[in-house]
Amino acid sequence: MRSQKLLYVIPVLLCATILFAGGFANSEPDGAAESSSEELSSSSEENFDKMMAVLMHKRCVNCHPNDNIPKQGEDSHPHYFGMARGEGNLGYQATTCNTCHQSENNDYSGVPGAPEWSLAPESMKWEGLTRTEIAESMLDPKRNGGRTHHEVMEHLTEHELVLWAWEPGIDAAGNPRELPPVPVDEYIEAVKAWFEEGAVIPAE
Ligand code: HEC
Ligand code: HEC
Repeated sequence: MRSQKLLYVIPVLLCATILFAGGFANSEPDGAAESSSEELSSSSEENFDKMMAVLMHKRCVNCHPNDNIPKQGEDSHPHYFGMARGEGNLGYQATTCNTCHQSENNDYSGVPGAPEWSLAPESMKWEGLTRTEIAESMLDPKRNGGRTHHEVMEHLTEHELVLWAWEPGIDAAGNPRELPPVPVDEYIEAVKAWFEEGAVIPAE
């Protein structure tokens, strides 16, 4: 059974490879050295595109606002109950974020949750920025909490508030929250590859 399937798969893969290679190498058959650096930068840009499609999404930006007020939902409306940044970004004195937000989603009440739920510090405001500006801010130790590239990469691929975006639960109206536009595995791969390729931010 298995080997029979392979018999079909191999020719299909071969065709795909030939088509793919043909698309890039339509001129010089011996331009290998030249095209490999082009391929590196075009794959770096592809990885950047995938990563930034996620970072620009509501699931991230709602918690990285530019006006101290967390946002909610697909339309990013200001958080109900007048929630705003308090001391240590945890909310106003009596009502800290964790009064309502637990370490897991509550799909009965529609309150999303993940460990250490809080508002991103003011220096990490992304709302309203272009993707280039977000990328610059994210890599700038003055704004990113003094993180090295490696630490930013780890935060982007491992932190629970980041990974929550792919398990965002159900909102207060009972509708599932929208996921970021790139599947989590593909996103993690793209982020790691982009950092490995030197974390180059392409021009706007
Ligand atoms: C519940 C709120 C919340 C959500 C949702 C959230 N973040 Fe954050 N984010 C924070 C907080 C709080 C910090 C600061 C944590 C720290 O410095 O230890 C932070 C810090 C960061 C940092 C490190 C600082 C920097 O500028 O390099 C990155 C990167 C980041 N977030 C990416 C994301 C991405 C990507 C998403 C969506 C997939 C996301 N965040 C969703 C709250 C959130
Ligand atoms: C009184 C309870 C309560 C408090 C306190 C509270 N929240 Fe919320 N929060 C909610 C509820 C309920 C929702 C879901 C609303 C919905 O989906 O319609 C929500 C949703 C959110 C969302 C939306 C996620 C998304 O992408 O749609 C973010 C971000 C958020 N809260 C951040 C915070 C932060 C940061 C704090 C502290 C400064 C905080 N909240 C304090 C009840 C609260």
